[in-house]
Amino acid sequence: MPILDNRHFEFFSHSPDQTRRLGIHLGGRINDGDVICLEGKLGSGKTTLVQGIAQGWGALDPVSSPTYLIVNEYRRADNQRLYHLDAYRLDNALDAEFLDFDRMLSQGPIVIEWAERIMEVLPEQHLWISFSYTGVEHRAMMLKPEGKRYEMMVDGLRRNLYGDF
Ligand SMILES: Nc1ncnc2c1ncn2[C@@H]1O[C@H](COP(=O)(O)OP(=O)(O)O)[C@@H](O)[C@H]1O
Ligand SMILES: [Mg+2]
Repeated sequence: MPILDNRHFEFFSHSPDQTRRLGIHLGGRINDGDVICLEGKLGSGKTTLVQGIAQGWGALDPVSSPTYLIVNEYRRADNQRLYHLDAYRLDNALDAEFLDFDRMLSQGPIVIEWAERIMEVLPEQHLWISFSYTGVEHRAMMLKPEGKRYEMMVDGLRRNLYGDF
């Protein structure tokens, strides 16, 4: 049996809606400067989670896959921004250097799909979420916090979810 760090939290989703609901809880807990990294194959549910995150955060704009643009920006009534980055088309971390993380992070949280492609340029403290396909409608998500802020975020989330699903 693998030894799991007790700060880690594994969530088993049984439907896209359940993945969205996890996102809503998480979105309600993120603020400027927060970095949420999503790792997993195509169709593993990353964008579905982002839909929930954006809703929980309070985005006025609908989530779309950043197809042509690398970064999508969603607004909130208080003029804050949520940045949605898709690193799929970036070949390596060097390509990500033109992305001005510091500027983005001063204006809002950032959620990154295919974060494993640009690992080298990511801030050291972040919440890492690995997705795996476990069945047609089933996905497992492993949440790994790096840093106190994210440990507290996961802890709060874990408490939120008990009794909610
Ligand atoms: N439990 C689940 N959680 C998330 N998506 C699911 C789940 N079950 C089935 N799906 C489907 O899998 C697909 C996930 O797509 P998407 O979220 O765009 O993945 P990614 O961004 O990782 O490529 C969607 O078609 C969604 O309806
Ligand atoms: Mg996607």
